[in-house]
Amino acid sequence: AAPRVLVAGSANLDFLTRVPHLPAPGETVLGPEYVTAPGGKGANQAVACARAGGAVAFLGALGPDPFAASLLASLRQSGVHDWTVRVPVPTGAAFISVSEAGENSITVASGANAHLTPEHLPGLRGLTHLALQLEVPLPTVGAYARAAKEAGLEVVLNAAPAAPLPADLLAAVDLLMVNEGELTALAGPGEPADQLAALSARGPHTVIVTLGARGAGAWHAGELLRVPGHPVRALDTTGAGDTFAGVLLAALSEGKSLGAALRRANVGAALACTRPGAQPSMPARAEIEAALGASEG
Ligand code: RIB
Ligand code: NA
Repeated sequence: AAPRVLVAGSANLDFLTRVPHLPAPGETVLGPEYVTAPGGKGANQAVACARAGGAVAFLGALGPDPFAASLLASLRQSGVHDWTVRVPVPTGAAFISVSEAGENSITVASGANAHLTPEHLPGLRGLTHLALQLEVPLPTVGAYARAAKEAGLEVVLNAAPAAPLPADLLAAVDLLMVNEGELTALAGPGEPADQLAALSARGPHTVIVTLGARGAGAWHAGELLRVPGHPVRALDTTGAGDTFAGVLLAALSEGKSLGAALRRANVGAALACTRPGAQPSMPARAEIEAALGASEG
């Protein structure tokens, strides 16, 4: 199917290592062998969206190296339309440590991702949603958001990793998605409902906060929605936020209500925590619907 959703952002090859605990500054910790897996917040969200049944294209910048081929293979296998561009800089890489508690710590070598420019944005006809994150240059994110807003698309921004957002970027965003740390970084300290409302007043009609094992909350049309956590045994939370975003996009782009989309996204993200890595851990639509059915009795 022709894409309705465009995800524009980063693609990284992830190097994952399990460690007894995350290293403190100056500390060395030993893990067993590393594994590589396709990742990057942009590519991850596109893959999660496609697996959840969304018609989605991915725009990102890849380098002239073998990493690019393995990232493209994962996109294609999941049914994502390939709108990537090539730049003469190494493909992005992420170095991820996962602790025994399932928490992670990530260092990203941006490489090609830092060379995605406003000029790379293709025509937006036929698209309903543009999804952005903050692993590509902020001026690029801003230019894409404004172009999509002007073309009448719903603009979705996952403000991860946290960074101060220019006022004109937030004004072009319809749906903002953050985790708790990012929420406080953007809105300052306070009660979550007040933080969400304050961000919404700066532009987005909907502001979603993901709460890890406690589910998610959303501020929309002056009301607070709550979705309780979907209980799982978390093995590796890498890619959970991206899965939430991708599943949410799939549901919204097929016309589901915000509440229904949040419930699907919440279950999808929980399932992604039960398996290692980012893209390899993302659930297919049938798995999400089975878990959703089970949780609703
Ligand atoms: O959100 C998880 C992602 O963050 C990983 O796949 C890694 O590439 C970093 O971009
Ligand atoms: Na995972």
